[in-house]
Amino acid sequence: MDTKPAIARAAPIGVFDSGVGGLTVLRALAEQLPAERFLYLGDTARLPYGTKTADTVIRYSVQCAGRLVERGVKALVVACNTASSVALPALAAAYPGIPVLGVVEPGAEAAVAATRNGHVAVIATEGTVRGGAYLRALQTRRPGLRVTQVPCALFVSLAEEGWTDGAVAEAVAHRYLDTVFTGPDAPDTLLLGCTHFPVLKAMLGRVVGSGVTLVDSAATTAAAMEVLLAGMEAREQAPSYSDVSRFHFLATDGLERFARVGATFMGTPIATDELELVDL
Ligand code: DGL
Repeated sequence: MDTKPAIARAAPIGVFDSGVGGLTVLRALAEQLPAERFLYLGDTARLPYGTKTADTVIRYSVQCAGRLVERGVKALVVACNTASSVALPALAAAYPGIPVLGVVEPGAEAAVAATRNGHVAVIATEGTVRGGAYLRALQTRRPGLRVTQVPCALFVSLAEEGWTDGAVAEAVAHRYLDTVFTGPDAPDTLLLGCTHFPVLKAMLGRVVGSGVTLVDSAATTAAAMEVLLAGMEAREQAPSYSDVSRFHFLATDGLERFARVGATFMGTPIATDELELVDL
């Protein structure tokens, strides 16, 4: 007999990020889990997280998660790489009843599976690189793995500006990556360790060359959430959103910009009646 309370199963999955970038992760979650509803929070008022100290990112993350928990989510995805790198223990301590999934471990899993020569390059924000979470996650999975981390802050601005291709984006990518992807021992795998970077994938692929495999954590995070929900017996079997909207978006500033820029990350338009301004 099914003893799980229906309310938990029908509750949305909460996803948060510093802004719109996490919509690349939401998109993968929505594809992987077609029956689920989602409540997304973008902390656009305090973006970027990537240049802030760990203490600040932890404080902001606990506030973001708190708002989603208040609204009754059944699980949490920390779509922001910077927050995933530093805030998971604090989130688990603050909300013990809610399963929390970050994007770092699934991304590391995908990169270890992809590399053939044992050398992975990680591109991320300054905060993610400084925190070293990808380095630890990769080397725990494969001790001795060579990891080259490159902070690439300008890619965040390029992605938000919609300059995902063309001369300017390529020049920036060459400046960051040419020295890393040179010589016989160069990495054969590039891990996109930031929410914004999947929209730059085609351009980055050209810059590093066809011999390099590009991996991001969106799809692996979505697969990990499916396993987690199945383990909790909290996975929706049939769509729970016939009478309510499938997505609801909270943002801490700039709803118009959220909808406009967010649509490029999400891959679909964001309707204004799905958007809500919140203060944390
Ligand atoms: N969401 C951040 C990340 O994935 C990038 C943007 C920011 O710096 O806040 O690290």
